[in-house]
Amino acid sequence: ACGGSGGSASGSEGETGAAADGAVDVSDAETLWKLAFNQTDQHPQYLAAEQLGEDLYEATDGRYAIEVYPNEELGTQSDVVQNLSDGSVEMMFIGAPVLESFNEDFIVFNLPYMFATEEAQAAVLGDEAVVGELYSSLEDSKNISVLAGVSGGVRSVYNSKHPIVEPEDLDGLKIRVQQSDSQVAMIEAMGAVASPMGQGEVYSALQTGALDGAENNETVFEALKHNEVSSYYSYTRHLMVPDYLLINSDILGGMSDEDREAFLELVPGAVESVNEGMKEYAQSSRTAAESAGAEFNDDVNVDAFRELVAPVVEGAINNDVREALFEAVQAANEANAG
Ligand code: GCU
Repeated sequence: ACGGSGGSASGSEGETGAAADGAVDVSDAETLWKLAFNQTDQHPQYLAAEQLGEDLYEATDGRYAIEVYPNEELGTQSDVVQNLSDGSVEMMFIGAPVLESFNEDFIVFNLPYMFATEEAQAAVLGDEAVVGELYSSLEDSKNISVLAGVSGGVRSVYNSKHPIVEPEDLDGLKIRVQQSDSQVAMIEAMGAVASPMGQGEVYSALQTGALDGAENNETVFEALKHNEVSSYYSYTRHLMVPDYLLINSDILGGMSDEDREAFLELVPGAVESVNEGMKEYAQSSRTAAESAGAEFNDDVNVDAFRELVAPVVEGAINNDVREALFEAVQAANEANAG
């Protein structure tokens, strides 16, 4: 379980060995990679990345470790991915839609109502035969390797005006989406006005009324305090967008074969830990938001929204690569039905 009862001691007091919280202090590693993350140090992705760093330190006898920078300290995802491409940041978690601008075939997993269950999503994202080419498609052009796809939670709409039950309730509301064409097309098909922006700007835009709402999982809603300024969370469950764990390809290629193998062997454990953690965290985020006064409604006409976005999905599956990815998702949906 992802404990984390606050008090993230910033303790890099220079002692080596065990840090105050019992974790391994990896700061004396020969090579310390920076991993950029855009949310808090309580998030399952943060915790999994920290653990991956410690395990890497041990597996390579201190030659490599990872330092995780939360809260957009290194910049928004779309800025950081440029730094990752040029090697000044070694690793990051990125919302999948941001990669569409590098290779549009990434769009398939970012389409509304694509995955039937989180299990189906995990099965597809972890199937080398399905995703291998996609994950390595940016190596030559951008120097970016996708190490893994992980759960980014299940996303629904929230806003400051009223519960969303029918599509007309969303009509004309200005809703923040992630920065990509697929996300804009999706929310506009659902009836809202799209406002794409990085995560760090969302809170104040909600607060000033520049935005009426956003769409995300319960954790972003609560942990980033959006619930304070936008209290109606409505279960449209329109998206399960993955996040990808990225590494600069030269950095990965520059490791000894032995160290690289040791590192790659640790990745599936990190994926599993994120996927498990996300489910629990969604639950506890909801509970916390509710006790702070947020209203969650489950009586949403999902079929109506699904119908509205169907043309967006059809229009996007328009070449052989996407066709094949789409078919793989359908098979996984059948094998992992809810
Ligand atoms: C999710 C996702 C992030 C993404 C964020 C967003 O939290 O895990 O990668 O950045 O949504 O909507 O910006």
